[in-house]
Amino acid sequence: MTTARAPGKIILFGEHAVVYGQPAIAVPIHQVSAIVEVTSISASRLGVIHVEAPDIGLDSWLHEMDQDQPLARIIHLTLNEIGIHDPPALGITISSSIPIASGLGSGTAVSVAIIRSLSNHLGQSLPLKRQSELAYEVEKIHHGTPSGIDNTVVTYAKPIFYKRGCDPEIISIGAPFTLIISDTGVQSPTAVAVEKVRRGWQDDPNIYESLFDEIGRLVLQARYSMERGQVNKLGPLMDQNQVLLEAIHVNSPPLQALINAAREAGAYGAKLSGAGLGGNMIAIVDPLNAHAVEKALKQAGAVSTLTTEVIE
Ligand code: PMV
Repeated sequence: MTTARAPGKIILFGEHAVVYGQPAIAVPIHQVSAIVEVTSISASRLGVIHVEAPDIGLDSWLHEMDQDQPLARIIHLTLNEIGIHDPPALGITISSSIPIASGLGSGTAVSVAIIRSLSNHLGQSLPLKRQSELAYEVEKIHHGTPSGIDNTVVTYAKPIFYKRGCDPEIISIGAPFTLIISDTGVQSPTAVAVEKVRRGWQDDPNIYESLFDEIGRLVLQARYSMERGQVNKLGPLMDQNQVLLEAIHVNSPPLQALINAAREAGAYGAKLSGAGLGGNMIAIVDPLNAHAVEKALKQAGAVSTLTTEVIE
């Protein structure tokens, strides 16, 4: 049996602008992960693959699955990449503790864990860059123009500075800091928010370009502060990024309620994270105050909170 895992992720700074070529920062969330097990099974013929994902009620043979289904797609892409067209009969079991459709990278982590377990099981592990590129192919099913930040941070499993078309840079964290990730419970497909921003940009390119430029400048400052351990600078930078996200109309009343609650309970700063319109917000907090902020978030309607430390 071969097992592989991939972590969840969260975007700290620069979402949306990253689609338009600005840099962004994302970090892995190791408390949650996707785990995939590949086993050789006895079956009547070569090349049959059984896929099981109990969390989503999937129990099927690969050849019976819709080939555009993301799980089927990544299995085919991986086999193709390693040039194995008649693999031995295999069983693939997928499980994940990453909440689905909430900006924590659940689909991406499943893709990366499948690529790893399958290629390792067949004796041909793939370089990280290629793993990330294959996972990117599946991201495109979810929305047509993904920036590539999700597959990159999940694959490299380190804090990253990401800019489209450039190799990702790993950020070395000068001092650990504590984040609370909190879910509004409002499902928000990334494609919808990305499309909303695209329409805004098409209607008013000058305004949107200058907002994206400003977001890009904040991202550079955030990287500088993260590397130097200037944790006190990150809260105000999050607040400024949030103002710019509001200006591109991806904020929403439930997000704002959680952001306000976190700030009132003493968070250093807070913003939405990922696509916006719903989904998650993040707050940077003093670890000693994390419990109080989590409590305030729940009172303000959060369906879940996750406290995590960002470290090297
Ligand atoms: O919702 P998430 O965490 O998958 O984030 C989407 C991030 C965007 O910048 C809005 C889109 C992208 O492809 O980068």
